[in-house]
Amino acid sequence: MTYDVAAVRSHYPALAGGEAFFDGPGGTQVPRPVVQAVAGTLAGPVSNRGPLTRPQRAADQVVAGCRSALADLLGADPEGVVFGRSMTDLTYDVARVLARSWAPGDEVVVSRLDHDANVRPWVQAAEAAGATVRWADFDPETAELHPEHLHAVLTGRTRLVAVTAASNVLGTVPDVPSLAAAAHDAGALVYVDGVHHAAHALPDLAGSGADFYTCSPYKFGGPHCGVVAAAPSLLEELRPDKLLPSTDRVPERFELGTLPYELMAGTTAAIDFLASLDPTGAADRRARLAGAYAAVEAHEERLRTRIEEALADRDDAIVWSRAARRTSTLYFTLHGRAPADVHAALGERDVSISSGHCYAWEPCQRLGLGETGAIRVGLAPYTDDSDVDRLLEGLADLGRGSRRGAGA
Ligand SMILES: Cc1ncc(COP(=O)(O)O)c(C=O)c1O
Repeated sequence: MTYDVAAVRSHYPALAGGEAFFDGPGGTQVPRPVVQAVAGTLAGPVSNRGPLTRPQRAADQVVAGCRSALADLLGADPEGVVFGRSMTDLTYDVARVLARSWAPGDEVVVSRLDHDANVRPWVQAAEAAGATVRWADFDPETAELHPEHLHAVLTGRTRLVAVTAASNVLGTVPDVPSLAAAAHDAGALVYVDGVHHAAHALPDLAGSGADFYTCSPYKFGGPHCGVVAAAPSLLEELRPDKLLPSTDRVPERFELGTLPYELMAGTTAAIDFLASLDPTGAADRRARLAGAYAAVEAHEERLRTRIEEALADRDDAIVWSRAARRTSTLYFTLHGRAPADVHAALGERDVSISSGHCYAWEPCQRLGLGETGAIRVGLAPYTDDSDVDRLLEGLADLGRGSRRGAGA
């Protein structure tokens, strides 16, 4: 069955505005069921969680429903799903609690391919504990982070390896199972940033070998919040700061204050919406999600190829996204054009892209792109051929403008 992008698009209220959105890696547009779930939860009746009243039980159900949906999405145990304000926030929390057991002589590995949210919390926690930070490089020519890059910095003192499941600029999808196996052989825990990855490929906490896997629902049609999943037995071993009267149960031990029920309901709705894109009609939600991701991936890859071919035809474009396995996100520069100017010029035509370092601070330094970064174009389940036409026309007009300028 072919992917019916027109039907998919009909569920996104924001698309009625006429914008062509290529800024999904920064945050996607949201389908109507998510909007309704958020509003419906706020409309209530809903109270603080508890067993005594209907509104209390409603809140309980929202929380249980959200953990169950995220568990299906992440291949995790619902009791190991921690909900939070953002991936960045959660990563600082986990880094602080893990670092309590680090001492001078211990080592922490971060990668040059990662978004800063999976770098700085570890660097700062290591500094506070007196531990040493080691950097796993990637190959700027190929945009690949291979297991050899990790082997070069792993030692018997490595306590943690933080690595991305997909770069939010280059799209590179490293071989996380091999990286995790190497880290485990060295006795280290593995913290995987799945924020970009989960928007494009079905995550698999258990199968990937990750000890922690993070995602942010606003990257796949949900509300603005973050999640980290781990085995409940691992969470049991950790003792984060918490209030005295709040429960010590896992995963609640890590969730400070009252949970955002409306965002949790919106997250469940986002996952159910994704599952509804499954063309195979599978019986359980995880299988439907697998079918949906495969269908969306094929659709996005076809559109990505169109954009790549157009960029390959230009003599002024350098495409930095080159890894063999990568998402449908392209990061490129146009000779003589500041990324922010391209961003603004396309914005004039109601084509939304991203520009700059996109918080991929280390990758940009490694590629020699500095703080200026590059132009980022990302595809989402709602992107269609007419969006791509508009993007390519906008880029072509820039090209013509630059050649005219050069000749003048
Ligand atoms: C790959 C990646 N990791 C982490 C983050 C940070 O996520 P959050 O905004 O939930 O803190 C982002 C956000 O853009 C991202 O793209």
